[in-house]
Amino acid sequence: SSNQMWGGRFANGPDAIMEAINASIGFDKRMAAQDIAGSRAHAAMLGATGIVEPSDAEAMGEGLLTVLSEIETGNFAFSTALEDIHMNVEARLKEIIGEPAGRLHTGRSRNDQVATDFKLWVRDQLDASEAGLLALIRALLDQAEAGADWVMPGFTHLQTAQPVTWGHHMMAYVEMFGRDLSRVRDARARMNESPLGAAALAGTSFPIDRHMTAEALGFDRPAANSLDAVSDRDFALEFLSTASICAMHLSRFAEELVIWSSAQFRFVALSDRFSTGSSIMPQKKNPDAAELIRAKVGRIFGANTALMMVMKGLPLAYSKDMQEDKEQVFDAADNLMLALAAMTGMVSDMTANRESLAQAAGSGFSTATDLADWLVRVLGLPFREAHHITGALVALAEAQKCDLPDLTLEDMRGVHADITADVFDVLGVENSVQSRISYGGTAPVRVREQIARWRALI
Ligand code: ARG
Repeated sequence: SSNQMWGGRFANGPDAIMEAINASIGFDKRMAAQDIAGSRAHAAMLGATGIVEPSDAEAMGEGLLTVLSEIETGNFAFSTALEDIHMNVEARLKEIIGEPAGRLHTGRSRNDQVATDFKLWVRDQLDASEAGLLALIRALLDQAEAGADWVMPGFTHLQTAQPVTWGHHMMAYVEMFGRDLSRVRDARARMNESPLGAAALAGTSFPIDRHMTAEALGFDRPAANSLDAVSDRDFALEFLSTASICAMHLSRFAEELVIWSSAQFRFVALSDRFSTGSSIMPQKKNPDAAELIRAKVGRIFGANTALMMVMKGLPLAYSKDMQEDKEQVFDAADNLMLALAAMTGMVSDMTANRESLAQAAGSGFSTATDLADWLVRVLGLPFREAHHITGALVALAEAQKCDLPDLTLEDMRGVHADITADVFDVLGVENSVQSRISYGGTAPVRVREQIARWRALI
C-alpha cells in the first residue's frame, strides 16, 4: 500500500530496497525532542493566527507532549515505513488526537521542519561544547597554578630549546581551548535564525507568524530567505569545523601526554582512573585515553570532509542528499564530547613529576640562549658573534660529555678571554625562566598574570 503521508498519487508502495535507502528514522529519532518542540511552536502559532481552530491547536500541543513522553520512556514503536522522525511523530499524533493532527502540517514542509530540528540539535551541541571546554580550561588553570614556577624543557622540533615553566605550557593550551570556546560562541550566534515557516522552499500563502515561532524556539529571528533557510547546512559545517580545530588541539595535547607519560620522559604520571594495563606485561600502565582522543580526531575531521562533499554539488533548495548530514554530525558530536570529558579527567587527575621536569630542563644545553644573551649584555658583543662563541662552548661541553654549567671558567676563557664568573648565574634554569619577563613570556610572574586574567574571564 502507498505511503499514508504522501501516497495520494501512488498506486504502489516502495520496494524494500527503496525503503531501506530512504529511511532515516534509524538515526533521526535522536531529534525527537527537537521535532516535537518545533511542532509545538508551529501548532501554537497556527492557533494564535487563526489558521486552525484554537481548540485544535491545543489538542495538537497536548498530544505532542504525550508522544514525547512515549518516546522518552521507550514506549514508542518507530516505523521504517514512516521514513523519518517527522512522519513517525505526526502519524502517532493522529492515532492519539485524530483529525486535528492532519492540520499540523499546514504552512509547513518537512524541509523547513528538518532544518529547524537539526539546528536545534546542533545548537544544543554547541552549548554542550561550551560547557565541556570551560571544564577543561578550569582543569588546565588548576594545573598551571600548581606549577606556575616549575621548570621544564621547552621544545622546538621536539629537541630541547629553552627552559619554560609547567604553568606556561598548561596556559598555552588554555589559549588554544579559549579560542575554540570563542569559535563555539561565534558559531552559535551566527546560526541562531529560525528556518521554520520557509515551508518547502518558497514560503507559504498562509498568514503564519515566523517571528512568533522563532521566539518560541529561542531563535534570535526568522531566517530571511526561504530558499536559503531550507538548503543551508552551514551551521552543521561550522560546528564540524569548529569541532575539528578543537579536536586537533585535543590531539596535540594527547600526543604530548603519551610522550610525557613514557618511561623515557616521566614528566607526568596519569591516574589509574585514566590508564589501562596490559594482559601480558605486568608493569604496564598505558595512556589509552590519550591515544583514543588522538585517534577519534580522525572521525571528526572525516565528518567535516564528508558533509562538505555532500553539500558542495547541491543546487538550491532541498535535495535528499542532505539527509546524510545527520549521522556525520551525531558521530562527531558524540566523540567530541567524549574526548573533551576524557581530556578533562586526565588533566584533573595527572601528577606532574617536578623532579623529572627540572632535571630534563637543565639538560640538552637548554640555557645556551641565556649564555649568548649574557655575552651580548655584559661583554657588548654583537648577537651573531655571541651565538658563534656559545656554539663553540656547547661543542666543548659535548666533547667533555657534560652540560654548560659543568664547564670551568678556565674552559670558557679558552673560547673567549673576557668571560667572567658571573656567567654561571645565567646558566641555571631557574634564573633562565625568571628572566623571561617579556609580555606573554614564561617567567612565573607573567604566567600568574595570565592565570588571573583567565580566571576573571571565565
Ligand atoms: N528525512 C529527511 C531529511 O532528513 C526529512 C526531509 C524530507 N524532505 C523531503 N522533501 N523529502 O532530510
